[in-house]
Amino acid sequence: MQGFFLLVFHSFLIVQGMTQMTSLTTAQLLTTRRSQKLVQAPGPNVEQLQQMLAAAVCAPDHSALRAWRFALVMQPEIAAFTDLAIDATRRSGREITEQKEQNTRKWLSTVPLLIGLAYKISHDNAKVPEIEQTLSMGAAVMNIQNAAHLMGFSSYWSTGLGTYTDEVPEALGFDTLDYRFVGFLAIGTPITPANPVQRPDAMALTTRWRP
Ligand SMILES: Cc1cc2nc3c(=O)[nH]c(=O)nc-3n(C[C@H](O)[C@H](O)[C@H](O)COP(=O)(O)O)c2cc1C
Repeated sequence: MQGFFLLVFHSFLIVQGMTQMTSLTTAQLLTTRRSQKLVQAPGPNVEQLQQMLAAAVCAPDHSALRAWRFALVMQPEIAAFTDLAIDATRRSGREITEQKEQNTRKWLSTVPLLIGLAYKISHDNAKVPEIEQTLSMGAAVMNIQNAAHLMGFSSYWSTGLGTYTDEVPEALGFDTLDYRFVGFLAIGTPITPANPVQRPDAMALTTRWRP
């Protein structure tokens, strides 16, 4: 498995160029991130990808379960993976219209990198109920998204592409009895500037308890 990742990282280094680093402050970083679906090459190089994954494994982790798992799907394999995901979704009984299929193929044709996201379930863990395991995985994914943003990339978390089939996670090495598969991050260079977005007023969502 180690060899696999080294091989993948190495080929990625050859294919992808460097991406410009930005100099956002931490606060700006956290409040300017937008999910952008449409991305293109260059994707992260080996070092950048390693930094993103290193950020992921800094997520809060009750009982140090180290349950996070990541499966890389990179160009030029993304078209074959798209075939697999579309076929698996149809086989599972979910409908995909011709239009949806075309849109999905078009979207993924320019995406340099997909990261499949899963965590190993700690079954019947009295100390760490599964909600906490799920939250830790979500925090790990968020760290990747913020790291990607810091490096000038955009990312997009999708639970399409056969996420809720058995076949797609299993094709990535995640037996669904042992792993919870939570989707994909598509990562690359944004094709257009992000649309401005009105974020909610955080204080309107916040209360202060008093006795
Ligand atoms: C777990 C999870 C799964 C998601 N799956 C999808 C999806 O399948 N399709 C989709 O259009 N958006 C999906 N989203 C939403 C986008 O990733 C994104 O968060 C949303 O468009 C808001 O953009 P923002 O991050 O810039 O606020 C998902 C978000 C989360 C947290």
